[in-house]
Amino acid sequence: MTAMLPKGAAMPIALNVNGEDRITLSDPLTPLVDVLRDALFLTGAKAVCREGICGACTVMMDGKPVMSCLVPVGIAAGHDIRTAEALSGEGEPSPLQRAMLDHDVVQCGMCFPGMMVTLTDFLEHTPEPTREEIKAALVGNICRCTGYERLIDAVLAFAHRD
Ligand code: FES
Ligand code: FES
Repeated sequence: MTAMLPKGAAMPIALNVNGEDRITLSDPLTPLVDVLRDALFLTGAKAVCREGICGACTVMMDGKPVMSCLVPVGIAAGHDIRTAEALSGEGEPSPLQRAMLDHDVVQCGMCFPGMMVTLTDFLEHTPEPTREEIKAALVGNICRCTGYERLIDAVLAFAHRD
């Protein structure tokens, strides 16, 4: 007979986050965003809607953007997880982040780490996007305070910086 864990019981779960092996003691059903924030202190991903709608919790899993509020940490085990914290090197903004700063894009910042994960992935696949393509790429990332026009201007400036 297989031993069953009581519902909600914590167990050691091995994760690879931003290239580092990490062990967390968690209920496997805990949303990945909560483990990233509360156990690993990677607070870039934000739990805002918790319904897969706003995109504030976006991280990369095996090279694809996922809503980490919808991914149980037990499912994330053994996969390559990259968070917004991995986007800048040595504490310096990445060139895309620099373009955002130059265009004064961020207000409260709740949406922004998720935006940056989505845009970084998008620009890898679409290095010279049109305004319409950028809008389409951001359909799953909601910004409630700054809006999108300056953000799109920043992405275009980054993409056509040479
Ligand atoms: S918190 Fe995950 S999509 Fe909104
Ligand atoms: S900067 Fe506040 S939600 Fe986007």
